[in-house]
Amino acid sequence: MEVVIKETCEQMSKAAAQEVAKTLNAKPNAVLGLPTGSTPLGLYKELVRMHENEGLDFSQVTTFNLDEYAGLKQDHPQSYHYFMQENLFKHINIPRQNIYIPSGTTDNYLAFCQWYEQRIRDCGGIDLQVLGIGSDGHIAFNEPTSSLGSRTRIKTLAKQTIDDNARFFKAGEKVPTYAITMGVGTILEAHRIMLLANGEAKAEAVAGAIEGPVTSMNTASALQLHKDVLFFLDRGAAGKLKMTAYYEWIQANLPGAPAGTG
Ligand code: F6R
Repeated sequence: MEVVIKETCEQMSKAAAQEVAKTLNAKPNAVLGLPTGSTPLGLYKELVRMHENEGLDFSQVTTFNLDEYAGLKQDHPQSYHYFMQENLFKHINIPRQNIYIPSGTTDNYLAFCQWYEQRIRDCGGIDLQVLGIGSDGHIAFNEPTSSLGSRTRIKTLAKQTIDDNARFFKAGEKVPTYAITMGVGTILEAHRIMLLANGEAKAEAVAGAIEGPVTSMNTASALQLHKDVLFFLDRGAAGKLKMTAYYEWIQANLPGAPAGTG
């Protein structure tokens, strides 16, 4: 587990974008797992800039999104289909047929979830899974007490998440109660994982995820069981960590580490 702390959200987003670019440069047909929400906006902006100005190529990339609200059509402004189109996909050269986002309008959620899991496997698994984190520690929509072995499924959102996300919906508009989401077990099968977090509101969840016990009360803490996880934090999100000096020491000494360590 590696913890990278930057002073600002912008610096954190740019560092995370460098990591995505490194993955695509090493493997142009990489499979990416992607989140929505406010956290990855800076990352997507930077990836679009790198595509436009530096030729970062998405022509062979495949993507799987983490989640989608149940009941929202693809063109609903708060659907995650719409979000991804507006903030990333319409600005880069990814082929439409390489984009997978859970369907919020399927008439058979069970069959859809099984198909989604199979598609991930058929594509060789996720090379790099990008995550945000909820203020209650959720990853994707795996709310507290979700099974740490859970798979893609329909999930009832926690009241806290509905309240947190109400800011994206029009006044009086109902935030959906259900979402279709990759499970914690699905996420843990990604070859590499990076979690981004910014702002003090995430500090407690981040501290629990990195330094707390592995518990379904903070599903991001399950990442401690993965062999290759990178946390990108801004100073606010890192505010409740106890081992900050150690993480910074590691980052400062990275280039000098003996070959084969890490
Ligand atoms: C969204 C997702 C969620 C968000 C989390 C944080 O696809 O997977 O887990 O990452 O709710 O949301 P923001 O970034 O809006 O604070």
